[in-house]
Amino acid sequence: MASDKNERMTRILPIAHMDEPILKQRASPVDLGVEYNAIKQLIDDMQTTLYHQEARVGLAAPQVFVSKRVVIFRIPQKIHPRYATEAHQEIPLTALINPTITPLSAIKVDGYEACISIPGFIGVVPRYQSIEYSYQDLNGDFHTMQAHGFHARIIQHECDHLNGILYPDKIEDMTTFISEKK
Ligand code: NI
Repeated sequence: MASDKNERMTRILPIAHMDEPILKQRASPVDLGVEYNAIKQLIDDMQTTLYHQEARVGLAAPQVFVSKRVVIFRIPQKIHPRYATEAHQEIPLTALINPTITPLSAIKVDGYEACISIPGFIGVVPRYQSIEYSYQDLNGDFHTMQAHGFHARIIQHECDHLNGILYPDKIEDMTTFISEKK
């Protein structure tokens, strides 16, 4: 097969499911000065992997067997009806490197979550309604954003993956942890 050096190859990465030890580990910080090429490829591959998953909005590196502090997320215009209870703004695919979260108030709200690592299930998780989050982009530049509602929920869910936490760990009412109806 002919190869084109200008055409970067991406691939759909294998997904770590709930019982994989890597999902219970704290992921390592990224040093872009050393790891730029590997992290760039990782983000490209994570994007391809996320787009392969219908109606999914986020993915963390440990979910593709890479224990690094990298997450990607997007908020499409049309989101799954389970999330449509909260107003949302469209956000294009964004990669967060070494993200950190600060709650803006103690108020938490309940909402359904799902996870690519836990196929077939959903559950109600309390999350901070409003947060501030900071991260680096691939160029190493720092950004700080505020997020509310569904946006804040996604960031909290994905960043939990970097600390070895899965959403069922934070479900308070286990009767809400149910099979996902298509
Ligand atoms: Ni997840």
